[in-house]
Amino acid sequence: MTGGGDWQRDLLRELADGDDPDNTSVQSSAATPDALPPSPTRTEAEAAPVPEPPLAARPVPRQVHNPAVPAPTPESLPTVDPRLAIALGNPQHGDSLAQRTGRTLRRLTASASQEVTEQTRFAQELQQPVTTGRVIAVTSIRGGVGKSTVSALLGRTFNHYRHDPVLTLEADAALGTLPVRMGANTVRWSCADLARILTPSMQLTDVTGYLVPVTDGGWLLPAGQGRVGAPLDMHTYLTVTTALRRYFAVTIVDCETLPGEVARTAMDTAHARVVVAPMTAEGVHGTRQVLDWLGQLPHSALATTVVALSAASPDTTLDAKTAAAHLREPGVPVVPLPYDRHLAQGGPIHTAMLGQATRDAAVRLAAEVMQLAVRVR
Ligand SMILES: Nc1ncnc2c1ncn2[C@@H]1O[C@H](COP(=O)(O)OP(=O)(O)OP(=O)(O)O)[C@@H](O)[C@H]1O
Ligand SMILES: [Mg+2]
Repeated sequence: MTGGGDWQRDLLRELADGDDPDNTSVQSSAATPDALPPSPTRTEAEAAPVPEPPLAARPVPRQVHNPAVPAPTPESLPTVDPRLAIALGNPQHGDSLAQRTGRTLRRLTASASQEVTEQTRFAQELQQPVTTGRVIAVTSIRGGVGKSTVSALLGRTFNHYRHDPVLTLEADAALGTLPVRMGANTVRWSCADLARILTPSMQLTDVTGYLVPVTDGGWLLPAGQGRVGAPLDMHTYLTVTTALRRYFAVTIVDCETLPGEVARTAMDTAHARVVVAPMTAEGVHGTRQVLDWLGQLPHSALATTVVALSAASPDTTLDAKTAAAHLREPGVPVVPLPYDRHLAQGGPIHTAMLGQATRDAAVRLAAEVMQLAVRVR
Protein backbone atom coordinates (compact mmCIF):
# COMPACT_ATOMS: atom_id res chain seq x y z
CA MET A 1 0.00 0.00 0.00
CA THR A 2 3.00 2.22 -0.12
CA GLY A 3 4.82 3.88 -2.95
CA GLY A 4 8.10 2.94 -1.37
CA GLY A 5 9.37 6.44 -0.61
CA ASP A 6 10.94 6.98 2.82
CA TRP A 7 8.20 9.31 3.95
CA GLN A 8 5.62 6.73 3.09
CA ARG A 9 7.43 3.94 4.94
CA ASP A 10 7.86 6.21 7.94
CA LEU A 11 4.25 7.16 8.13
CA LEU A 12 3.06 3.60 7.72
CA ARG A 13 5.42 2.47 10.47
CA GLU A 14 4.14 5.28 12.64
CA LEU A 15 0.56 4.20 12.08
CA ALA A 16 1.41 0.53 12.54
CA ASP A 17 3.21 1.25 15.81
CA GLY A 18 0.31 3.18 17.21
CA ASP A 19 -2.46 1.00 15.84
CA ASP A 20 -3.88 -1.77 17.89
CA PRO A 21 -6.14 -3.84 15.66
CA ASP A 22 -7.60 -5.65 18.64
CA ASN A 23 -8.75 -2.46 20.24
CA THR A 24 -12.48 -2.38 19.55
CA SER A 25 -12.73 1.32 20.02
CA VAL A 26 -15.64 1.74 17.63
CA GLN A 27 -18.54 -0.61 18.11
CA SER A 28 -20.83 -1.37 15.23
CA SER A 29 -24.43 -0.48 15.50
CA ALA A 30 -25.24 -4.05 14.60
CA ALA A 31 -23.29 -5.30 17.60
CA THR A 32 -24.25 -2.69 20.19
CA PRO A 33 -26.88 -0.34 18.85
CA ASP A 34 -26.62 2.19 21.65
CA ALA A 35 -22.88 2.20 22.17
CA LEU A 36 -22.12 5.34 20.21
CA PRO A 37 -25.16 7.24 18.99
CA PRO A 38 -24.77 9.42 15.90
CA SER A 39 -25.69 12.74 17.45
CA PRO A 40 -25.38 12.38 21.16
CA THR A 41 -26.28 14.94 23.71
CA ARG A 42 -23.70 15.28 26.42
CA THR A 43 -25.83 13.29 28.84
CA GLU A 44 -26.31 10.44 26.37
CA ALA A 45 -22.65 10.25 25.58
CA GLU A 46 -21.67 10.30 29.22
CA ALA A 47 -23.96 7.35 29.74
CA ALA A 48 -22.47 5.50 26.78
CA PRO A 49 -19.37 3.34 27.19
CA VAL A 50 -16.41 5.40 26.10
CA PRO A 51 -13.47 3.56 24.59
CA GLU A 52 -10.11 3.51 26.29
CA PRO A 53 -7.92 6.06 24.57
CA PRO A 54 -5.41 4.04 22.57
CA LEU A 55 -3.57 7.18 21.55
CA ALA A 56 -2.02 7.63 24.96
CA ALA A 57 1.17 5.85 24.00
CA ARG A 58 1.12 6.96 20.40
CA PRO A 59 3.42 9.73 19.21
CA VAL A 60 1.22 12.30 17.50
CA PRO A 61 3.15 14.70 15.32
CA ARG A 62 2.92 18.43 15.89
CA GLN A 63 0.49 18.24 18.77
CA VAL A 64 1.65 21.42 20.41
CA HIS A 65 -1.50 22.57 22.16
CA ASN A 66 -1.16 23.06 25.90
CA PRO A 67 -4.55 22.19 27.47
CA ALA A 68 -3.90 24.78 30.18
CA VAL A 69 -4.03 27.48 27.52
CA PRO A 70 -7.35 27.38 25.65
CA ALA A 71 -6.97 27.55 21.87
CA PRO A 72 -8.37 30.78 20.43
CA THR A 73 -11.80 30.19 18.91
CA PRO A 74 -11.76 30.87 15.18
CA GLU A 75 -14.57 32.98 13.85
CA SER A 76 -17.52 31.25 12.20
CA LEU A 77 -17.57 31.98 8.48
CA PRO A 78 -20.31 31.36 5.89
CA THR A 79 -19.55 28.63 3.35
CA VAL A 80 -21.23 30.71 0.65
CA ASP A 81 -21.40 34.51 0.63
CA PRO A 82 -24.96 35.30 1.87
CA ARG A 83 -25.48 37.52 -1.19
CA LEU A 84 -24.93 34.44 -3.35
CA ALA A 85 -26.73 32.00 -1.09
CA ILE A 86 -30.05 33.79 -1.69
CA ALA A 87 -29.51 33.29 -5.43
CA LEU A 88 -29.12 29.48 -5.19
CA GLY A 89 -32.55 28.74 -6.64
CA ASN A 90 -34.78 25.81 -5.79
CA PRO A 91 -33.32 22.31 -5.73
CA GLN A 92 -34.27 20.27 -8.79
CA HIS A 93 -35.16 16.62 -8.48
CA GLY A 94 -32.66 14.26 -10.07
CA ASP A 95 -35.49 12.43 -11.86
CA SER A 96 -38.09 14.06 -14.08
CA LEU A 97 -41.74 13.84 -13.05
CA ALA A 98 -42.33 11.28 -15.82
CA GLN A 99 -39.51 9.09 -14.48
CA ARG A 100 -40.90 9.23 -10.96
CA THR A 101 -44.42 8.41 -12.08
CA GLY A 102 -43.20 5.57 -14.30
CA ARG A 103 -41.25 4.05 -11.44
CA THR A 104 -44.25 4.15 -9.11
CA LEU A 105 -46.36 2.36 -11.71
CA ARG A 106 -43.69 -0.29 -12.36
CA ARG A 107 -43.43 -0.94 -8.61
CA LEU A 108 -47.15 -1.60 -8.48
CA THR A 109 -47.04 -4.16 -11.27
CA ALA A 110 -43.62 -5.85 -11.18
CA SER A 111 -42.28 -8.29 -8.63
CA ALA A 112 -39.81 -6.46 -6.44
CA SER A 113 -38.25 -9.52 -4.84
CA GLN A 114 -34.91 -9.27 -6.66
CA GLU A 115 -34.63 -5.59 -5.80
CA VAL A 116 -35.39 -6.29 -2.15
CA THR A 117 -32.81 -9.09 -1.98
CA GLU A 118 -30.13 -6.79 -3.37
CA GLN A 119 -31.05 -3.95 -1.04
CA THR A 120 -30.93 -6.28 1.94
CA ARG A 121 -27.46 -7.47 0.94
CA PHE A 122 -26.17 -3.93 0.54
CA ALA A 123 -27.68 -2.92 3.88
CA GLN A 124 -25.93 -5.82 5.61
CA GLU A 125 -22.61 -4.89 4.02
CA LEU A 126 -23.01 -1.27 5.04
CA GLN A 127 -23.94 -2.12 8.61
CA GLN A 128 -21.28 -4.69 9.29
CA PRO A 129 -19.34 -4.31 12.53
CA VAL A 130 -15.92 -2.70 12.53
CA THR A 131 -13.17 -3.38 15.04
CA THR A 132 -11.45 -0.02 14.60
CA GLY A 133 -12.68 3.02 12.70
CA ARG A 134 -12.44 2.54 8.95
CA VAL A 135 -10.97 5.32 6.81
CA ILE A 136 -12.04 5.56 3.17
CA ALA A 137 -10.16 8.00 0.92
CA VAL A 138 -11.80 9.50 -2.17
CA THR A 139 -9.56 10.96 -4.85
CA SER A 140 -9.07 11.36 -8.61
CA ILE A 141 -6.41 12.27 -11.11
CA ARG A 142 -8.18 15.44 -12.22
CA GLY A 143 -9.99 18.23 -10.46
CA GLY A 144 -13.70 18.87 -10.76
CA VAL A 145 -14.67 15.30 -11.60
CA GLY A 146 -16.88 14.69 -8.58
CA LYS A 147 -14.69 13.80 -5.56
CA SER A 148 -16.56 16.04 -3.13
CA THR A 149 -19.89 14.95 -4.58
CA VAL A 150 -18.99 11.27 -4.16
CA SER A 151 -17.62 11.93 -0.65
CA ALA A 152 -20.84 13.68 0.36
CA LEU A 153 -22.94 10.85 -1.08
CA LEU A 154 -20.87 8.26 0.77
CA GLY A 155 -20.98 10.19 4.04
CA ARG A 156 -24.76 10.49 3.83
CA THR A 157 -25.21 6.86 2.82
CA PHE A 158 -23.07 5.49 5.65
CA ASN A 159 -24.79 7.74 8.09
CA HIS A 160 -28.19 6.59 6.92
CA TYR A 161 -27.37 2.90 7.34
CA ARG A 162 -25.17 2.96 10.44
CA HIS A 163 -26.07 3.99 13.94
CA ASP A 164 -22.52 4.64 15.06
CA PRO A 165 -20.79 7.95 14.30
CA VAL A 166 -19.74 8.74 10.74
CA LEU A 167 -17.34 11.56 9.84
CA THR A 168 -16.83 13.20 6.49
CA LEU A 169 -13.47 14.92 6.45
CA GLU A 170 -12.14 17.36 3.90
CA ALA A 171 -8.48 16.92 3.07
CA ASP A 172 -8.35 19.36 0.21
CA ALA A 173 -6.53 22.58 0.92
CA ALA A 174 -7.61 24.12 -2.36
CA LEU A 175 -10.92 25.81 -1.56
CA GLY A 176 -12.86 22.57 -1.36
CA THR A 177 -16.61 22.40 -1.78
CA LEU A 178 -17.41 19.61 0.67
CA PRO A 179 -18.96 21.85 3.37
CA VAL A 180 -21.35 23.32 0.80
CA ARG A 181 -22.21 19.90 -0.63
CA MET A 182 -22.88 18.61 2.91
CA GLY A 183 -25.22 21.53 3.57
CA ALA A 184 -23.08 23.38 6.12
CA ASN A 185 -23.99 27.07 6.27
CA THR A 186 -20.97 28.07 8.32
CA VAL A 187 -17.63 26.58 9.27
CA ARG A 188 -15.40 27.39 12.22
CA TRP A 189 -12.87 24.75 13.22
CA SER A 190 -10.64 23.21 10.58
CA CYS A 191 -8.33 20.18 10.35
CA ALA A 192 -5.36 22.36 11.29
CA ASP A 193 -7.17 23.68 14.38
CA LEU A 194 -8.09 20.18 15.53
CA ALA A 195 -4.54 18.94 15.02
CA ARG A 196 -3.53 21.41 17.76
CA ILE A 197 -6.48 20.75 20.04
CA LEU A 198 -7.11 16.98 20.06
CA THR A 199 -5.89 15.13 23.11
CA PRO A 200 -6.21 11.41 23.89
CA SER A 201 -8.39 12.07 26.94
CA MET A 202 -11.14 13.73 24.92
CA GLN A 203 -14.53 12.10 24.76
CA LEU A 204 -16.75 11.91 21.71
CA THR A 205 -18.83 14.84 22.93
CA ASP A 206 -15.72 16.98 23.36
CA VAL A 207 -14.63 16.18 19.82
CA THR A 208 -18.01 16.74 18.17
CA GLY A 209 -18.08 20.21 19.71
CA TYR A 210 -15.44 21.11 17.12
CA LEU A 211 -17.24 19.45 14.19
CA VAL A 212 -20.12 20.57 12.00
CA PRO A 213 -23.27 18.49 12.56
CA VAL A 214 -24.73 17.43 9.23
CA THR A 215 -28.48 17.94 8.78
CA ASP A 216 -29.23 14.28 7.99
CA GLY A 217 -26.87 13.14 10.77
CA GLY A 218 -23.15 12.53 10.97
CA TRP A 219 -20.33 15.02 11.28
CA LEU A 220 -18.16 17.14 9.03
CA LEU A 221 -14.64 18.47 9.47
CA PRO A 222 -13.62 21.05 6.85
CA ALA A 223 -10.03 21.51 5.70
CA GLY A 224 -10.20 25.24 6.21
CA GLN A 225 -12.52 28.19 6.23
CA GLY A 226 -12.76 28.63 2.51
CA ARG A 227 -9.78 30.94 2.27
CA VAL A 228 -7.04 30.62 -0.31
CA GLY A 229 -4.01 28.79 1.06
CA ALA A 230 -5.70 26.94 3.93
CA PRO A 231 -3.00 25.10 5.88
CA LEU A 232 -3.25 21.36 5.42
CA ASP A 233 -0.18 19.25 5.18
CA MET A 234 0.67 15.60 5.59
CA HIS A 235 1.40 15.88 9.33
CA THR A 236 -1.82 17.71 10.03
CA TYR A 237 -3.74 15.11 8.06
CA LEU A 238 -2.12 12.20 9.88
CA THR A 239 -2.54 13.79 13.28
CA VAL A 240 -6.23 14.41 12.75
CA THR A 241 -7.18 11.12 11.08
CA THR A 242 -5.15 9.03 13.50
CA ALA A 243 -6.79 10.72 16.47
CA LEU A 244 -10.33 10.88 15.10
CA ARG A 245 -10.71 7.39 13.78
CA ARG A 246 -11.16 5.95 17.25
CA TYR A 247 -14.36 7.95 17.65
CA PHE A 248 -15.90 7.26 14.24
CA ALA A 249 -16.90 3.94 12.75
CA VAL A 250 -16.37 5.28 9.24
CA THR A 251 -14.42 8.34 8.11
CA ILE A 252 -14.82 9.43 4.50
CA VAL A 253 -11.91 11.59 3.34
CA ASP A 254 -12.48 13.99 0.46
CA CYS A 255 -8.91 14.30 -0.83
CA GLU A 256 -7.20 16.70 -3.11
CA THR A 257 -6.31 15.55 -6.62
CA LEU A 258 -3.50 13.03 -7.08
CA PRO A 259 -0.50 13.16 -6.94
CA GLY A 260 -0.66 15.80 -4.20
CA GLU A 261 1.21 14.83 -1.04
CA VAL A 262 -1.87 14.80 1.20
CA ALA A 263 -3.80 12.76 -1.38
CA ARG A 264 -1.00 10.19 -1.59
CA THR A 265 -0.74 10.04 2.18
CA ALA A 266 -4.50 9.56 2.45
CA MET A 267 -4.44 6.87 -0.25
CA ASP A 268 -1.57 5.09 1.48
CA THR A 269 -3.02 5.11 4.95
CA ALA A 270 -6.71 4.52 4.23
CA HIS A 271 -8.33 1.13 4.72
CA ALA A 272 -9.95 1.44 1.29
CA ARG A 273 -10.09 4.02 -1.48
CA VAL A 274 -12.45 5.31 -4.12
CA VAL A 275 -10.96 6.71 -7.31
CA VAL A 276 -13.45 8.92 -9.14
CA ALA A 277 -13.15 8.66 -12.92
CA PRO A 278 -14.96 11.08 -15.21
CA MET A 279 -16.97 9.47 -18.00
CA THR A 280 -14.71 10.74 -20.77
CA ALA A 281 -12.15 8.87 -22.87
CA GLU A 282 -9.26 10.87 -21.42
CA GLY A 283 -10.61 10.57 -17.87
CA VAL A 284 -11.00 6.80 -18.11
CA HIS A 285 -7.61 6.45 -19.81
CA GLY A 286 -5.88 8.50 -17.09
CA THR A 287 -7.63 6.65 -14.28
CA ARG A 288 -6.54 3.35 -15.80
CA GLN A 289 -2.93 4.57 -15.63
CA VAL A 290 -3.40 5.27 -11.92
CA LEU A 291 -4.87 1.81 -11.36
CA ASP A 292 -1.97 0.16 -13.18
CA TRP A 293 0.45 2.18 -11.04
CA LEU A 294 -1.38 1.18 -7.85
CA GLY A 295 -1.15 -2.46 -8.95
CA GLN A 296 2.63 -2.25 -9.25
CA LEU A 297 3.23 -0.94 -5.75
CA PRO A 298 4.89 -3.41 -3.37
CA HIS A 299 1.78 -3.74 -1.20
CA SER A 300 -0.86 -3.34 -3.84
CA ALA A 301 -3.54 -0.88 -2.89
CA LEU A 302 -5.54 -2.11 -5.84
CA ALA A 303 -7.15 -4.87 -3.80
CA THR A 304 -8.89 -2.26 -1.67
CA THR A 305 -9.81 0.21 -4.41
CA VAL A 306 -13.18 0.87 -6.05
CA VAL A 307 -13.70 3.13 -9.06
CA ALA A 308 -16.70 5.48 -9.19
CA LEU A 309 -17.32 6.18 -12.87
CA SER A 310 -19.07 9.52 -12.75
CA ALA A 311 -21.10 11.05 -15.57
CA ALA A 312 -20.98 14.68 -14.55
CA SER A 313 -22.42 15.83 -17.88
CA PRO A 314 -25.59 14.79 -19.74
CA ASP A 315 -23.65 15.03 -23.00
CA THR A 316 -21.17 12.22 -22.51
CA THR A 317 -21.02 9.90 -25.51
CA LEU A 318 -18.46 7.40 -24.24
CA ASP A 319 -20.03 3.95 -24.03
CA ALA A 320 -20.44 3.29 -20.31
CA LYS A 321 -20.03 -0.49 -20.63
CA THR A 322 -16.77 -0.19 -22.57
CA ALA A 323 -15.46 2.40 -20.12
CA ALA A 324 -16.34 0.24 -17.10
CA ALA A 325 -14.81 -2.87 -18.70
CA HIS A 326 -11.57 -0.96 -19.38
CA LEU A 327 -11.34 0.10 -15.74
CA ARG A 328 -12.27 -3.35 -14.43
CA GLU A 329 -9.38 -5.05 -16.25
CA PRO A 330 -6.84 -4.54 -13.42
CA GLY A 331 -9.33 -6.26 -11.09
CA VAL A 332 -11.17 -3.42 -9.36
CA PRO A 333 -14.94 -3.07 -8.90
CA VAL A 334 -16.40 -0.22 -10.95
CA VAL A 335 -19.62 1.49 -9.89
CA PRO A 336 -21.17 3.84 -12.47
CA LEU A 337 -22.62 7.04 -11.00
CA PRO A 338 -25.20 8.45 -13.41
CA TYR A 339 -25.68 12.05 -14.41
CA ASP A 340 -28.09 13.59 -11.92
CA ARG A 341 -29.75 16.98 -12.38
CA HIS A 342 -29.77 17.63 -8.66
CA LEU A 343 -26.05 16.94 -8.36
CA ALA A 344 -25.34 19.00 -11.47
CA GLN A 345 -26.91 22.16 -10.09
CA GLY A 346 -24.27 22.40 -7.33
CA GLY A 347 -24.97 23.65 -3.82
CA PRO A 348 -26.16 21.47 -0.91
CA ILE A 349 -27.09 17.88 -1.75
CA HIS A 350 -30.60 17.01 -0.55
CA THR A 351 -30.90 13.23 -0.32
CA ALA A 352 -34.62 13.30 -1.07
CA MET A 353 -33.99 15.16 -4.33
CA LEU A 354 -31.54 12.63 -5.76
CA GLY A 355 -32.59 10.47 -8.69
CA GLN A 356 -33.34 6.86 -7.81
CA ALA A 357 -30.43 5.59 -9.94
CA THR A 358 -28.08 7.96 -8.10
CA ARG A 359 -29.27 6.74 -4.70
CA ASP A 360 -28.88 3.14 -5.79
CA ALA A 361 -25.39 3.84 -7.11
CA ALA A 362 -24.37 5.58 -3.87
CA VAL A 363 -25.56 2.60 -1.80
CA ARG A 364 -23.78 0.15 -4.08
CA LEU A 365 -20.57 2.18 -4.02
CA ALA A 366 -20.66 2.47 -0.23
CA ALA A 367 -21.34 -1.27 0.15
CA GLU A 368 -18.50 -2.22 -2.24
CA VAL A 369 -15.93 -0.02 -0.54
CA MET A 370 -17.04 -1.07 2.96
CA GLN A 371 -16.58 -4.72 2.00
CA LEU A 372 -12.97 -3.93 1.12
CA ALA A 373 -12.35 -1.64 4.09
CA VAL A 374 -13.32 -4.23 6.68
CA ARG A 375 -10.93 -6.79 5.22
CA VAL A 376 -7.89 -4.72 6.19
CA ARG A 377 -6.64 -5.11 9.72
N1 LIG B 1 -23.13 12.51 -10.92
C1 LIG B 1 -23.17 13.80 -11.26
N2 LIG B 1 -24.20 14.28 -12.01
C2 LIG B 1 -24.25 15.56 -12.37
N3 LIG B 1 -23.34 16.47 -12.05
C3 LIG B 1 -22.30 16.08 -11.28
C4 LIG B 1 -22.16 14.74 -10.86
N4 LIG B 1 -21.02 14.64 -10.13
C5 LIG B 1 -20.48 15.88 -10.11
N5 LIG B 1 -21.25 16.75 -10.81
C6 LIG B 1 -20.98 18.16 -11.09
O1 LIG B 1 -19.58 18.37 -11.05
C7 LIG B 1 -19.28 19.46 -10.20
C8 LIG B 1 -17.94 19.25 -9.56
O2 LIG B 1 -18.05 18.18 -8.65
P1 LIG B 1 -17.16 18.13 -7.33
O3 LIG B 1 -17.07 19.45 -6.68
O4 LIG B 1 -17.66 16.99 -6.55
O5 LIG B 1 -15.77 17.77 -7.99
P2 LIG B 1 -14.34 17.65 -7.26
O6 LIG B 1 -13.62 16.54 -7.93
O7 LIG B 1 -14.51 17.55 -5.80
O8 LIG B 1 -13.70 19.04 -7.62
P3 LIG B 1 -12.35 19.68 -7.01
O9 LIG B 1 -11.21 18.99 -7.69
O10 LIG B 1 -12.46 21.12 -7.38
O11 LIG B 1 -12.37 19.43 -5.54
C9 LIG B 1 -20.44 19.52 -9.22
O12 LIG B 1 -20.61 20.81 -8.70
C10 LIG B 1 -21.60 19.11 -10.08
O13 LIG B 1 -22.09 20.24 -10.78
MG1 LIG C 1 -13.75 18.75 -4.24
